[in-house]
Amino acid sequence: MRKIIIDCDPGHDDIMAVFTALAHAEELEILGITTVSGNQTLAKVTANILKVQDYFGLHIPVCMGYDSPIIKPREVQPAAHGESGMDGPVLPDPVSKPQPEHALDYLRRTLETEDKVTLVALAPLTNIALFLKTYPHLAGKIECIAMMGGAVNGGNIQKKSEFNIWQDPEAAAIVFASGVPVVMAGLEVCNAGSILLSEAEEFRHGGKVSKFCYDLMKFYGLYAVNRGWDRTPIFDITPVIWLLYPELFKAEQMDVDIELNGEFTRGMTVCTPTTGRPHTVLLDTDREAFIGVFLAALKKLDQIYA
Ligand code: RIB
Ligand code: CA
Repeated sequence: MRKIIIDCDPGHDDIMAVFTALAHAEELEILGITTVSGNQTLAKVTANILKVQDYFGLHIPVCMGYDSPIIKPREVQPAAHGESGMDGPVLPDPVSKPQPEHALDYLRRTLETEDKVTLVALAPLTNIALFLKTYPHLAGKIECIAMMGGAVNGGNIQKKSEFNIWQDPEAAAIVFASGVPVVMAGLEVCNAGSILLSEAEEFRHGGKVSKFCYDLMKFYGLYAVNRGWDRTPIFDITPVIWLLYPELFKAEQMDVDIELNGEFTRGMTVCTPTTGRPHTVLLDTDREAFIGVFLAALKKLDQIYA
């Protein structure tokens, strides 16, 4: 059993990452969820996870973190996730509330108590970077940071940078230089594990969780539909599936440095053959096997959350 804390900015794919972890309760114990601004403001992304928890009767503690990057001004992404941050499904305003403590206090308290915790980072790394800066003596309690972000050679928000890193590159620089092992699921491996839009269409015939994911994908998939693509990556499920089935991935130990100053490359993850730093960069996966894990997770949750 691996104990995890999910740091996220829900976010259609963040929600589907939480579902994937939920479906594997024997392997992954979700201790809590921390939220950070990214896809949308802190208030909106927090409301989204609370709405989903209310809808499915979930009670995972949610603690709010930072509402802006360390240096760079916040730039939310309505084009990809809508004004709400989770456009598509229609859910009532949340009844449940976040925990009263700040994400950093929650992380400190939890890591002081637990032996080892894995951080699943699915958003800009602001919370995790500032936690490591504030409580460096607790870094050793972090088994690894399994994160979605970066790219070996590419970008989605800019030519050479991926959104989670680009949104707070100073935070990423702190995290990758902290000495805590990072497993980086960048754009290449996420794209390799893309879901076919035809596979997502089948969610409409499933149970409550699948139908909810159908509504998520109807909006989230528009980015691909509008570009004539037949598939789309569900980015944030990737680090969760690595935690469950690492054998599904091609990976290399690499140094990862973050470009902070380039006019065209700020937020770039510079991945080079390792000089002994502990990072694992995921490079490729078998699409059918990878997506099969997600599809099986939805089917299992359809039985549980009917
Ligand atoms: O670039 C993809 C990442 O940015 C994902 O985590 C998505 O949720 C957005 O946060
Ligand atoms: Ca995210």
